[in-house]
Amino acid sequence: MAVIAVIGGQWGDEGKGRVVDLLAEKVDMVVRFSGGDNAGHTVIGPHGEFRLHLVPSGIFYPQVTCIIGNGVAINPASLLGEINELQRHGVDTSRLVISDRAHVIMPYHTLLDGLEEERRGGRALGTTRRGIGPVFADKVSRLGIRAGDLLNKDGFLSRLESILEFKNAILTKVYEVSPLPLEEIYQQYCRYGERLAPFIRETTYMLHDALRTGKLILLEGAQGTLLDPDFGTYPYVTSSSPLAASGSLGTGIGPMQIGHVVGVFKAYSTRVGQGPMPTELKDEVGELIREKAHEYGATTGRPRRCGWFDAVASRFSVQVNGFTEIALTHLDIFDAFPSVRICTSYRFADKVLDSFPGDVEMLEKCQPVYEELAGWQGPISEIRNFDELPAEARHYVARLEEITCCPVGLVSVGPKREQVIKARSMLPQ
Ligand code: IMP
Repeated sequence: MAVIAVIGGQWGDEGKGRVVDLLAEKVDMVVRFSGGDNAGHTVIGPHGEFRLHLVPSGIFYPQVTCIIGNGVAINPASLLGEINELQRHGVDTSRLVISDRAHVIMPYHTLLDGLEEERRGGRALGTTRRGIGPVFADKVSRLGIRAGDLLNKDGFLSRLESILEFKNAILTKVYEVSPLPLEEIYQQYCRYGERLAPFIRETTYMLHDALRTGKLILLEGAQGTLLDPDFGTYPYVTSSSPLAASGSLGTGIGPMQIGHVVGVFKAYSTRVGQGPMPTELKDEVGELIREKAHEYGATTGRPRRCGWFDAVASRFSVQVNGFTEIALTHLDIFDAFPSVRICTSYRFADKVLDSFPGDVEMLEKCQPVYEELAGWQGPISEIRNFDELPAEARHYVARLEEITCCPVGLVSVGPKREQVIKARSMLPQ
């Protein structure tokens, strides 16, 4: 098992950061492979609580090399801010490496993301407005600027000149706003390039050298499967793939080398932004989950929509990723609940569906069909052994395994590093 991927199984915010943080102790490299600073990974460790947006969550371990892979979009200002913050808290950032192939978020990306959201009006997607859609659109339109480009000032200027001419035409003629100044952006991004230069290098050979010498690599997913542009609730999705397969494309590691794929799921569901969420609870139960679990976005601070565990969506997620085990987080949130529910199918018109529809309008009309299980009504945060969990909590976990067709290897019962129960995980112990 040379490569392990940690992937969000729902709509993001499942607690991937803490699972990566837990495993990072045993690995040599942690690699981000998709997304950008739209992600927010909260890690609570000896240095305090950190919200990482771009830096891989392995940075707190001195033996770990942290790579921002080619599949990530980098906002240099936000990355430099994060590096400074880590350094200020005494965290060594000399083990951070940025792929020269990673795309760079430019000021027109963030501007266009916001303008496009406003143009959509009532049908806005609820993006994080970090320029994610525009930067990945430019990547595939062959209009992108990559981290390596910032190191070649002349080449960068001529590329930026031609791209900005086009972007300014869109800004002024389509959106009727002011154009962006070439010189200012060029100078600013040259300065970013100078500051990031010590971190930027070719990373694919580096990863393959590590594999050849028997190193253990952890791929750190961002966002969640149901935000995937192909398999998520399109168009209410993000713009790079959060799936396990993207762990290969976003790093240059072959798919057969990924030996283990951990799907991180909360014991319930949350979503930020717009788009269907069949089990959303707009009542006091949803409010209770939000308040108990502090369900507010790590990047935007927006309140997250909360609801019961959706096993239809989750089983789909297990399939499209090929999860080999589940890490179930936040189980303790249900401690005081008299009963808990699992959505086992959807009712659509006069049909009962047990598959996740690709058509978002159909999904919007799906009504959840629930199975109700007894709650455990007692604190579980201090428990470290699966067999010591109350029978009702064990039953809940067993039922999730059964319906999603995937074993639960880890269960988290609190936010701290040690508040984890290793059920029957195949991960390095
Ligand atoms: P974008 O990725 O900023 O374009 O946003 C597209 C959708 O993905 C919106 O619904 C966002 O709320 C959602 N999203 C993006 N990143 C995250 C994340 O890290 N956690 C949860 N939702 C996210």
